[in-house]
Amino acid sequence: MSSLLHFSTPSPSSRLSSSSFRNSPSNSLLFTKSTLRSIRLPSISRRFNQNRLSLTANASSVVDSPTTSAVDSGGGSPKLLLEVKDLTAVIAESQLPILKGVNLVIYEGEVHAVMGKNGSGKSTFSKVLVGHPDYEVTGGSVVFKGENLLDMDPEERSLAGLFMSFQSPIAIPGVSNIDFLNMAYNARRKKLGLPELGPLEFYDFISRRLKIVKMDTNFLNRNVNEGFSGGERKRNEILQLAVLGADLAILDEIDSGLDVDALQDVAEAVNGLLTPKNSVLMITHYQRLLDYIKPSYVHIMEDGKIVKTGDSSLAQQLEKEGYKGISA
Ligand SMILES: Nc1ncnc2c1ncn2[C@@H]1O[C@H](COP(=O)(O)OP(=O)(O)OP(=O)(O)O)[C@@H](O)[C@H]1O
Ligand SMILES: [Mg+2]
Repeated sequence: MSSLLHFSTPSPSSRLSSSSFRNSPSNSLLFTKSTLRSIRLPSISRRFNQNRLSLTANASSVVDSPTTSAVDSGGGSPKLLLEVKDLTAVIAESQLPILKGVNLVIYEGEVHAVMGKNGSGKSTFSKVLVGHPDYEVTGGSVVFKGENLLDMDPEERSLAGLFMSFQSPIAIPGVSNIDFLNMAYNARRKKLGLPELGPLEFYDFISRRLKIVKMDTNFLNRNVNEGFSGGERKRNEILQLAVLGADLAILDEIDSGLDVDALQDVAEAVNGLLTPKNSVLMITHYQRLLDYIKPSYVHIMEDGKIVKTGDSSLAQQLEKEGYKGISA
């Protein structure tokens, strides 16, 4: 077992390129302007600048419950988690409008699916929510757990409990999965005032998490997403979610590129992470994901707006009739 424990110390020359940060796997690394400069990862020690990591905070139980319980509903009715009103956004570089008035309300415990044709703005919407610098918000509001999300920088959003799995997760050369997760997880514990886990404790913890997402322990010693197949990258995203937790997990096409068995595993993992206190916003093109992860609501996005909202029957209708059959 211990041979699997390769906590390495990346060499001083180990750098995460700016492009890594701009499209980092999930939201565990940042894409703030400061991180767009080359950043050195000197080691995974306490000296690691935890501000470089965006982590979810407020976990009620960091060790065993990856999901957070920041909003204590006290057993009462579910609380509002996210409220998006008339959100408009442009591409920062070209000022081209992409989001043209998105409205969406998510309560804790809900699963929302966003569907829509290619290029309708789904990924842009999710990237705007996590504060991706490619986009500028030009109007509207986003309130997350009672706070103005748009006022927060990306790491604050993540610390507030927002997680995003990108449509195309990229690799971080030179940084192993176990180092990455150890850094992120222990930085989060530190943030919560908890002692760091030692290597053995962390390995024990992460092994249990690996079982949830049915990933082989060999994954741990491989560099983050480096040489991973498309499906393996998707599973790796779920592993990060399982370890770091979230109040709202945005999963952008988590089903793409997964074989039938892997899709079922990933769906089971996501279902296993759902509690009455957290929520998922899934972007998908296919009904088959929704067969496994039952949505409370299905939204159709078209030209930068949500034009229709329904229950799971809307996705079934879409599957049968295509977008032609769905009138706003
Ligand atoms: N950074 C960017 N630079 C240039 N164009 C962009 C950028 N981001 C988004 N776009 C454009 O905005 C539109 C919406 O893109 P987005 O990725 O949000 O679509 P999507 O609904 O996620 O599509 P898909 O289903 O194919 O993933 C597209 O026309 C895309 O080319
Ligand atoms: Mg997309």
